[in-house]
This record gives sequence, structure tokens and C-alpha cells, in this order.
Amino acid sequence: MDSLLIKGGVPLHGEVQISGAKNAVLPILAATLLTSEPCTIRRVPDLSDVRFMSQILTWLGAEVRADGDTIRVRAKKIKGEGDYDLVRKMRGSICIMGPLLGRLRDAKVSLPGGCIIGARPINLHLKGFQSLGAKVTIENGYVHCKARRLTGAAVFLGGRAGSTVLGTANVMMAAVLAEGVTVIESAACEPEVTDLANFLIAMGARITGVGSPTITITGVKQLHGAEHEVIPDRIEAATYAIAAAVTNGEVTLRGARSDHMHAIFDKLKDSGVSTHCNGNGIVVKRGGRLKPVDITTLPYSGFPTDVQAQMMALMIMTPGISIITERIFESRFMHVSELSRLGADIEIEGPSAIVKGGKPLSGAPVMASDLRASAALVIAGLAAKGNTQVNRIYHLDRGYEKIDVKLRQLGARIERIEES
Ligand code: EPZ
Repeated sequence: MDSLLIKGGVPLHGEVQISGAKNAVLPILAATLLTSEPCTIRRVPDLSDVRFMSQILTWLGAEVRADGDTIRVRAKKIKGEGDYDLVRKMRGSICIMGPLLGRLRDAKVSLPGGCIIGARPINLHLKGFQSLGAKVTIENGYVHCKARRLTGAAVFLGGRAGSTVLGTANVMMAAVLAEGVTVIESAACEPEVTDLANFLIAMGARITGVGSPTITITGVKQLHGAEHEVIPDRIEAATYAIAAAVTNGEVTLRGARSDHMHAIFDKLKDSGVSTHCNGNGIVVKRGGRLKPVDITTLPYSGFPTDVQAQMMALMIMTPGISIITERIFESRFMHVSELSRLGADIEIEGPSAIVKGGKPLSGAPVMASDLRASAALVIAGLAAKGNTQVNRIYHLDRGYEKIDVKLRQLGARIERIEES
């Protein structure tokens, strides 16, 4: 398994190109299953999760051709059952269920297990499918949704932690080909859900209220092919913004959208990190001493859980006490013990981590546990004195396109050690 070796202490400077959003492209690729006509998706990031999704679409019978950051898909003739192991390996692939149910009235995939950040049940997805008239059975590790007819209905998709992102995406994708009108209440408002809806509308779907908690879908008989450019990845952009702040550098985020990042930039401002737009993108730099801030993760437009770990890396560099509360996932503090290995002082109290910041960090070998935790370890390694080796970076490659190359372009002393 590859690892990253980081020699810390270099302020980052320069421009970094932000890639397409992982959490938009996965459901958008799944949505191509809704039509037998060709679809073209642009600004697709080169990630292992994307390659997984392409394998899953191919397994289902679709023709998938990648050409640089463009993927062309034609799902002329498809089957309704996903490969057990492929789907089980990547949680995000659960979003093939809605399109398969919508188009074939029949969808069978392996039940996604829990993951290191939480139990992550899919009860809300299934509740949505049942409200459209699907019969749901769970057997032999598979969840099977079948319907003679799909009929539009009103469904409330709010759960323990509020709205569900992929649950909203899945129900929306099943409802676009249902008979009649579906109204999703407590829908997720994330920009990635809006991007998916814009692609569905380009395919001929009738959807209103996207970006608000009430989405209305009027079913149509069929959808046609379409072209779409994926939105930039706000989580990747936030990760580079925080890396710039932690190293006391100045970085321009090329292609990032500030209108998707208000909650993140607001907290950065409170902590003494300024952001402003210029012709090339968003410029991020520290305006002097860092200040501690408290963070609570919430559904969009609140502070994203996918930036919680990276923000903790900034707070361990900040003199004073900050409290970081995780409200979306039950166990998303796997990075805490590894950050402590670098010298951080963090205590966990229930859903909160109390960070006593400002102590200098020293490099050490650390272990990545999940995608965003590994990003936090890289950021802390960039600030630590000496060498930090981040192991198991396959987690990083799932969600960050060429992170070591991009950081090196910003002046970081970082190299990928490929396991022979
Ligand atoms: C999406 O996951 C993202 N993944 C996650 O990003 C992100 O953390 C999450 O949304 C929240 O923003 C992709 O888009 C591929 P949820 P998703 O359903 O849709 C509970 C990353 O780092 N819930 O919005 O799976 C659930 O357990 C990843 O890029 C139910 O209880 O998340 C959680 O506590 C990690 N029942 C909360 O809702 C359900 O049926 C939010 O989960 C569904 C969810």
C-alpha cells in the first residue's frame, strides 16, 4: 500500500486547479442508467471511486468510455442486479438503486455495510422507494426493490441527523420515471444534489424546488441522453484552503465556487484566514495570528462534516481552546488518535472534541483510516517539524485527484512511496 512522505514547515504558495466533485459525479454517473441514449459527463475527477462506479456500470451492461476528464456512457440494455462485491466495496454505489428501480422497476444490490465513520443505514432510501409503491426485501445480503408500477407520492426524508444526501438523490432518480407527482420533504440541499438534478433536467426530467428542503418531481415516460459538466469539488477546495492557512502560505483555488462554501469561509474568517476572489479563483491567506473557533457539523448550508477533520488540523495549530462537534456521523473522530501521535492535544467528550491548540507538531508515521481523516493527517504533516509518513493512502486516492502532485506544485516537500 502506497504512503506519503511529507517534510513539513514549507508555506504553500501558488495556484491549484480544483477538480470535479466526487460526491456529484458518482450519482450523476449512476443517473446515466435512466436512459438508453448516450450521455457525456465532463470535468470527471480521476479517482478510484469513479473507476469503481465505471466498473459497476459496465457490469450492469452499460458501455463506458473514459477520455481524459470526460466519460461517455451508453446504457442501451442493462440488468437490474449489481455485482455483490463491487457494490459492497463502495458505499456511494448505493445510488444505482434509484435509477434501476426507476427504469426497470427492479433493483437488487448488496446491502452496504456500515463504515468506520458510522452505521450509515439506508432506511430512508428504502422508505422513499416504498412510498412510490416498491416492495422491499432484504435477503442473503441483498436489498431488492421491485414494483409493478411506480406512482408519485409525498415522502418525508428527514432522519436522526436531518436530511440524507444520497437518499434524496436515490428517491429523486426513482421518481423521475414514476407516474404522477412526487414531493420530497426534508430533502438534502447540498450543491451535489442540485448538480444531479440539473443533469436529470437536461435529460428531460421535470423537477422543481432543488436546493430547497421541498423538491417536486413530475414523472415523465422516458428520458433522453444529455451532456453535463460536473461542479467543482468544494471539499477538495476547502482542504487546500486549510493547508494554505496551516502553513501560513497564500494559495489561489482555481475553479472553486465561493457560493458553495459560505459556511467554510465564514469559519475560516473567524479563525483569522481571509478569502477573496480575483480573476483566477479564490485567494486564501492568513491575516496574522490564528484564533480558535468552535465548529458544529450540519447538513448544507451548515458546516460540512467532510471538512471537520481538516478544520481540526487547523485548530491544533491555533493557540487556545476550540470545540468541534460532529452531529452527522456517530464515529467520525478516527483522526484524533493519529493527530495526537504528531503532538496534538485533543480530548473527546461525547460528540465533541476539545482541542487545546498551539503546541508545535513533530513528524511521525501515522495511519489513514478514512478519506477526510487522511486529508487532516496530510495537512498536519505539512505543518509538523521533520518527517511525517502517512500510510494507507488508498483512502486519499478515493477522493483527492493527484494530491501529492498538486501539493508539490504549491511548494510542499511531499513524495508518494509506492509499495513494490
Ligand atoms: C454523502 O453520504 C457523502 N457521500 C458523504 O461524503 C457525506 O459525508 C454525507 O453525504 C453527508 O454530507 C457521497 O455523496 C458519496 P447521508 P451519504 O445519507 O449520502 C443518516 C466523503 O467524505 N442516514 O446524508 O451516505 C446517516 O447515517 C463522504 O466524501 C440514516 O439514518 O450521507 C448519517 O448519520 C463521507 N438513514 C446522516 O443520515 C438513511 O437512510 C447523513 O447521511 C440515510 C442516512
